[in-house]
Amino acid sequence: MNILENIKPSGKEKEKLDKIVNNILNKLNSNLIAAKAIPGGSYAKDTWLKGDHDIDVFVLFNKKYDEKNISDVLWKALKKSFLRPKKKIHGSRTYYKIKKGKYIFEIVPVIEINNPEEALNIMDISPLHVDWVNENAKDLKDEIRKIKAFCKAAHCYGAESYIKGFSGYVLEILTIFYGSFDNLVKSAVKWKKKDIIDFKKRNIKILNKSKISPLIVIDPVQKERNAAAALSLEKFNLFKEYCKEYLKNKDEKFFIKEIKIPEDAIVIEVKPVKGREDIVGSKLLKVYDYIKEKLDGDFGVKESFWYWNKKVLLWYVLKEKELKQFKKHYGPSIEDEKNIERFKEKWKNYKVYEENGYVYINIKRKDTEIKPYLKSLFKDDYIKEKVKKIKIKTFPKSL
Ligand code: CTP
Ligand code: MG
Repeated sequence: MNILENIKPSGKEKEKLDKIVNNILNKLNSNLIAAKAIPGGSYAKDTWLKGDHDIDVFVLFNKKYDEKNISDVLWKALKKSFLRPKKKIHGSRTYYKIKKGKYIFEIVPVIEINNPEEALNIMDISPLHVDWVNENAKDLKDEIRKIKAFCKAAHCYGAESYIKGFSGYVLEILTIFYGSFDNLVKSAVKWKKKDIIDFKKRNIKILNKSKISPLIVIDPVQKERNAAAALSLEKFNLFKEYCKEYLKNKDEKFFIKEIKIPEDAIVIEVKPVKGREDIVGSKLLKVYDYIKEKLDGDFGVKESFWYWNKKVLLWYVLKEKELKQFKKHYGPSIEDEKNIERFKEKWKNYKVYEENGYVYINIKRKDTEIKPYLKSLFKDDYIKEKVKKIKIKTFPKSL
């Protein structure tokens, strides 16, 4: 099997992109003074995947610039270069998105530093990550590509707050630490919660307590930072499980991201609101979690997941056993004799049971009961304010 054929950009693809990137950098640099636009992120690290259309560009500003101004200075230089940003992104520092054909450039202004202590903003450190990876992963770029594709296919890629998986940089550190894709995957299976990945075994106390995650990856560029701080326990376990499955059967399919929805799942389709990806994403995650919590309380959720490609799909498999035929219909408290009589009269063909001080009967479920339940759930303000549209897409025959 040759996985690289599917995930490594071909020479032609690389050449084409290099041309476009150089063109943008040259234009921009001719309109910058005491600042320099350079390639960044996975493009500069040569760890990008075939078909990637997102390119990071850093604009390094000399320290003499007032940090507050660099976004504005960059904005003016972009306009002068006839690179009209598609979007201004107001993060901890404003940066810009430019579209060139199918490519999207994220142009980030940073203060040029030599060491992380000088950083005025987390973004200032990104170029140092690039340098570190390029120095330490000279022969490992393809191994990094493999783990990135693998992790994407496992639905564990990305440190965004709505994904809570592994960032590209974390995978780069891990590949360098373990020396190869194979060794990383083999080691991941043995990871225990709170394991520490550190090039120099050090005392964990140097880390801020709030930055503890299931796997602690000491950032080699910034010793007090846990590069994997965003990782959730769910994604940590999912990744380990995926590695385990792969080791049983090293198949190419483990590198291809596909959406697998079980046949017995209720599938919900959501039309997201417009806005910044991370904000829209965390709204979707909240909606997914909210529905999961409700369904789990009332029916029991066996399995669930959500996807956001072009469409947003949330799916839930309910615990069939509890759902199967009967549900408990509760009546009055056992001390309330008067109402108990009424309850028994009303349900005289049913056997009455007791539980936690209340009476109940087992009534047969109507098979469509979950549908109206969900539809009324969709009307909750909590959901309504977070999505544009939400509907049941498929409802399993088994329910
Ligand atoms: N970065 C980081 N930690 C994160 C996200 C980003 O340190 N959680 C920094 C890294 O220096 C990274 C850069 O921001 O290289 C750009 O982020 P991103 O585009 O997400 O990562 P890439 O390395 O470019 O990987 P990808 O191929 O996914 O774009
Ligand atoms: Mg990138």
